[in-house]
Amino acid sequence: MATGIIGVGHYVPERVLTNFDLEEIVDTNDEWIRTRTGIETRHIADDGEDTSDMAYQAAVSALADADLEAKDLDLILVATITPDQPFPSVSCQIQDRLGASQAATMDISAACAGFMYGVITAKQFIEGGLYHNVLVIGAEKLSKITDWTDRNTCVLFGDGAGAAVVSSVSDDRGILSFELGADGSGGQALYQEDDKIRMNGREVFKFAVRQMPESSVKVVEKAGLQKEDVDYLIPHQANIRIMEAARNRLGISEDKMACSIKKYGNTSAASIPIALSEEVKAGKIKDGDHIVLVGFGGGLTWGAMAIRWGK
Ligand code: UT7
Repeated sequence: MATGIIGVGHYVPERVLTNFDLEEIVDTNDEWIRTRTGIETRHIADDGEDTSDMAYQAAVSALADADLEAKDLDLILVATITPDQPFPSVSCQIQDRLGASQAATMDISAACAGFMYGVITAKQFIEGGLYHNVLVIGAEKLSKITDWTDRNTCVLFGDGAGAAVVSSVSDDRGILSFELGADGSGGQALYQEDDKIRMNGREVFKFAVRQMPESSVKVVEKAGLQKEDVDYLIPHQANIRIMEAARNRLGISEDKMACSIKKYGNTSAASIPIALSEEVKAGKIKDGDHIVLVGFGGGLTWGAMAIRWGK
């Protein structure tokens, strides 16, 4: 048996903040944001809605998609840098709300690459024979650590959650290859200080346009595939220009790349599972398709995987 994704789900809060709304808050404009980032709107959670609330909605949807019940879960992993509080973990809150009494829990802090770290961690537990079904969630309420006076960062981020149920699948499906990495020496490029996100945008950009294409190609090669075999690319939705760099290196056409950045902005650990869930539900990813997921984030961290989709 191999390990794969058997169900997906996502959730974004209702309130939409447009580029034009941001023009009223900081010295920016719609044209700059659209052309430099690809973002037009982002969804922002209200005061009463925290990371765990969004994570819960995505989890319920992924469990239904996988046709599983909460009691079937052996482990819940939540990738987040914006937990409701330092502890208890979001994964514990989700375990309680779902009634997943058999599940162990753990939060993962790997910023925007967190979901990738989560899925690969789940794969190890499953292939080690310890667990059958692992729920992996990426959930963020970035709006609560956004500095709404800093135009360099506040235009980029949004809130939301995505989830996947990771389980055994048949031998000719599932995760074919992966790569995880980190470079702690780049920690000062993107970090939290005094409860706010701080970023050297150009540094992160330089790192990302190198890392995303490199990791994408690496997992394709490790899987024994050719670039032409890739049917769909799901990159971390940080900046359309960074995403395009990965797409161009793989040589795949525009319609084969998930692009939800326009609507949701950068939702950190939630961005890849939200994009994956949307594309699966829209019927864009079909049984047997080869897909590449790739992400990078603060830490610095990165991760990629190639999957042959299906159960
Ligand atoms: O998940 C990982 C999270 N982070 C990222 O992925 C960020 C990666 N970096 C980026 O996406 C890009 O570097 C940014 C979108 C953040 C910035 O784009 P850029 O093309 O690298 O712009 P820049 O930082 O080189 O700034 C160009 C100009 C500057 O003005 P001057 O110094 O040339 O006069 C900025 O002050 O754009 C100005 N600027 C803005 N202008 C209008 C920066 N932010 C804004 C803004 N509106 N929001």
